[in-house]
Amino acid sequence: MADWVRSCPRGAEPPFYALHAGGRSYRDGVTVLEVIQRSTEFLTQKGVESARLQAEWLLARVLGMPRLQLYLNFARGLTDAEVDQVRQLVKRRGQREPLQHLLGTTSFCGLELKVNPCVLVPRPETEALAEHAWQFLAKRQAGASAVLDFGTGSGCLAITLAVRCPHARLHALDVSAEALAIARENAAAHGVAERIAFCLGDGFAALAPEQTFDLIIANPPYVPTAEIAALMPEVRDHDPRVALDGGPDGLEFYRRLAATARDRLRAEDGRMMLEFGDGQAERLRDVFGLHKWVVERVEADYTDRPRILVVGPPHERRAAEAG
Ligand SMILES: C[S@@+](CC[C@H](N)C(=O)[O-])C[C@H]1O[C@@H](n2cnc3c(N)ncnc32)[C@H](O)[C@@H]1O
Repeated sequence: MADWVRSCPRGAEPPFYALHAGGRSYRDGVTVLEVIQRSTEFLTQKGVESARLQAEWLLARVLGMPRLQLYLNFARGLTDAEVDQVRQLVKRRGQREPLQHLLGTTSFCGLELKVNPCVLVPRPETEALAEHAWQFLAKRQAGASAVLDFGTGSGCLAITLAVRCPHARLHALDVSAEALAIARENAAAHGVAERIAFCLGDGFAALAPEQTFDLIIANPPYVPTAEIAALMPEVRDHDPRVALDGGPDGLEFYRRLAATARDRLRAEDGRMMLEFGDGQAERLRDVFGLHKWVVERVEADYTDRPRILVVGPPHERRAAEAG
């Protein structure tokens, strides 16, 4: 282990700012490369995954340059002000604040979105749900499709679909007013705010009774309550609890959707696409089967894990519409 790490007691400041080596402040002439190396070791010591990458993102943000440009600037010295800024960020990352909260943004399906502690940080696996949704909408012939994003959070799904599917009309609903405010901001930043109706409230109660949809998508809270305490600190302590807690077995929201979404799906070829957690697929088949939904397929995310349930209108409704 490097000397500077050994000399830095656990929980102390990131070392290149606070300590002295041989009478010389680490701050004197500290370079981009040194900051990356020392921050990486500090973050590794704190149990942060992909520590080097994270250190680079934080330093790049402070220096106002694309991350890869750091590699062309390894010998550049930092000013005191820059050192102070990166110090604060690396310290907070060491305390397991999510990188996205420190940067204030994240990327979802190629779109930059604002995030803060009021919204779930959009996850890469949810991009697969967005992709299946826009493929579904692209195949539909009939005019403008009506889409509901149930539990919109940062607005990542609704905004992606609005950008990708110019003929879709979207509703984005959430029980959190703070989350809706961020979703609105993100929609405005991407020029699609006029095409999304933002609805505040508890589930379908937030919508007019007659409002129906061709597609309902949701990434509901699906962590079993008792498992929240064991999540990574970045998630457990920084994602909103209301975005995580899926009740005793994690399936509460799916039960609600299975029981109440049937009247909200407009056409026989309408679909509901739902993200779910590891190991929940089979139990969800039962939940939706119980309410006579047709489970059309289960799709995997980009790491090949079953992640998306696609269901269609219940049998009896299809039969009634056909007859
Ligand atoms: C797992 S987050 C998903 C956020 C976003 N769609 C995404 O994929 O990143 C679940 C969202 O559902 C919202 N939510 C929780 N309970 C709700 C309810 N009863 N009615 C509407 N939204 C709810 C939460 O506020 C949160 O934004």
